[in-house]
Amino acid sequence: MELAGARVLVAGATGALGGDLARALAAAGARVALTGRDDGRLQALAGELGGAPARAADAVDVDSVRSAVDAAAQALGGLDAVVVAWGVVAFGPAADADDAVTEELFAVNTLAPMSLVRAALPHLADGGAVVLLSAIVADAPTLGMAEYSASKAALSAWASVLRRELRSRSVSVLDVKPPHVDTGLVDRALAGEPPRLPEGHDRGEVVTAVLDGLREGAREVVLDPRERRLVRR
Ligand SMILES: NC(=O)c1ccc[n+]([C@@H]2O[C@H](COP(=O)([O-])OP(=O)(O)OC[C@H]3O[C@@H](n4cnc5c(N)ncnc54)[C@H](OP(=O)(O)O)[C@@H]3O)[C@@H](O)[C@H]2O)c1
Repeated sequence: MELAGARVLVAGATGALGGDLARALAAAGARVALTGRDDGRLQALAGELGGAPARAADAVDVDSVRSAVDAAAQALGGLDAVVVAWGVVAFGPAADADDAVTEELFAVNTLAPMSLVRAALPHLADGGAVVLLSAIVADAPTLGMAEYSASKAALSAWASVLRRELRSRSVSVLDVKPPHVDTGLVDRALAGEPPRLPEGHDRGEVVTAVLDGLREGAREVVLDPRERRLVRR
């Protein structure tokens, strides 16, 4: 996909990676629309990006997600790509997990991206792209993070089927599986204390890999464990 001129909705734009991705896409010439939960930070980013269309939505409110998608498509005259970068984390042994916390994890990390993509598909041009931020734990479920790992593994499984089903429209589905990155996500955990985490991976490398993956129509961004760098395939 050619990023210059591409019409891209970034969901979770108020977050660290979502904000970085929105800025990088705009710098690459994309026409960016934004959604996020915190309206103050969302409008500040929209202003920073020269008045990008922006509408707040809560991922657990399907109607607000659909409204944000429709508003973005209307403002941009359709969509060429959607990037879903919202997410929440929680920590602790599986046996002690709180049901309400687990429900929120799956609502935000798994169900809401599915809802957003379903709402976006009628607006998405053939040859377009869907980008979903799952996580390395989708492939390597981690102790003390059973529910977060499961929510991301479920999203990843869904993405792999979606990719095959959208082949007839030449829409690519890029599943981004970053390792730990120091964005403050773990400090905003819904519950629990994080286990000992590896040193945070370079944030800029994640953003560059996503943009390159979009350009190439890649399937995945994953960590090469030996080289400790992100690769696309
Ligand atoms: N950081 C890492 O180590 C890492 C590693 C692998 C994967 N990831 C994934 O990458 C994505 C971005 O993470 P990040 O590190 O950039 O974290 P972040 O800075 O905490 O961003 C999280 C984003 O999710 C949004 N969000 C949370 N609950 C929401 C809800 N109910 N409705 C709407 N938006 C909601 C936040 O919105 P507000 O700020 O507006 O509330 C924020 O935009 C997540 O999916 C995360 O799981 C991160």
